[in-house]
Amino acid sequence: MGQVNLRKVAMIGCGYVGSAAAFALMQNRLFAEIVLIDVDQEKAEGEAMDIGHGIPLVGNMKIYAGSYDDIADAAIIVITAGAGQKPGETRLDLVHRNVSIYQKIIPEITKRNCQGILLVVSNPVDILTYVTVKLSGFPENRVIGSGTVLDTARLKYQVGEHLAVDSKSVHAFIIGEHGDSEIAVWSSANISGVPLDDFCEMRGQWNHDKIQENIAETVKRSAYEIIERKQATYYGVAMTIKRICEVIIRDEKSILPVSTMMHGEFGIDDVALSMPSIVGADGFEVRVPISLNEEECKNLRKSAQTLKEILKQCDQIAIE
Ligand SMILES: NC(=O)c1ccc[n+]([C@@H]2O[C@H](COP(=O)([O-])OP(=O)(O)OC[C@H]3O[C@@H](n4cnc5c(N)ncnc54)[C@H](O)[C@@H]3O)[C@@H](O)[C@H]2O)c1
Repeated sequence: MGQVNLRKVAMIGCGYVGSAAAFALMQNRLFAEIVLIDVDQEKAEGEAMDIGHGIPLVGNMKIYAGSYDDIADAAIIVITAGAGQKPGETRLDLVHRNVSIYQKIIPEITKRNCQGILLVVSNPVDILTYVTVKLSGFPENRVIGSGTVLDTARLKYQVGEHLAVDSKSVHAFIIGEHGDSEIAVWSSANISGVPLDDFCEMRGQWNHDKIQENIAETVKRSAYEIIERKQATYYGVAMTIKRICEVIIRDEKSILPVSTMMHGEFGIDDVALSMPSIVGADGFEVRVPISLNEEECKNLRKSAQTLKEILKQCDQIAIE
């Protein structure tokens, strides 16, 4: 990492997601300084005050509402600004609103010659990751979308619940779009090295196809179900943001399904989507060559195609 303060993070957008993520980051004390920015300055100030009042109960740090001048040396700039899905809306419905918000935010970041890593969270996250790469001109390793890290956590949670096993022992990925065309990679899923089907049978579960279909659908529907009940999803994604920040700051080289630019893998090019990748101090390091069966490959290409169609519409709002 270049000239950055490894103890400093910036959060652009302090709505449900940004404030929950700032709260999670404050509690784990990964950073000594958290800068909050929002177009609604009072919202950023209110969140900084509220979260800051927990500092005496956790340990000393700075959390404040700032301006873009404050983010120049931040090690990670998390962008959660933008509208969220309304009940019944897909993530892709948000595209025009949020691309135009990014057209305002990204130049503010590049103007300050920031050397940190941009973590894109706003939806549709794959489209906005692509847009951020194009608008920022940053090296691609320094632009990461939170991608399907949350969906993968939801998958592990569901499989863990279903098999009554610790979800941390579940090894499986959701790849592709963070959205309706995402793919659960069942062909390589395992529980601590035991192939999933074998483990299911050990637990007295035999109806593999049906169970996998139900779990994948539950994962895909999670955001819709939560939004219907409480208007927004934020705790799960806040933990996702915290985890990605930890992996970067501690140079963990963990494998996470973050959204990054594809360059011909599986015949997919010029689009950002999620594949298991090694993430560390330099951001994205390398994609892990996960093996996919024929159907998973086909669905991954379809997912990429869905995103490309949306990007074509974005061309009309000039992202190059
Ligand atoms: N990637 C994921 O896994 C994931 C999960 C949940 C939500 N999200 C997305 O995160 C985004 C935020 O969701 P939310 O529920 O916090 O929404 P929200 O409406 O509560 O918050 C958005 C915030 O962005 C601010 N904002 C708008 N324009 C801005 C600008 N130009 N500069 C700075 N701030 C600006 C708003 O004032 C508001 O405070 C949405 O796009 C949502 O879909 C992503």
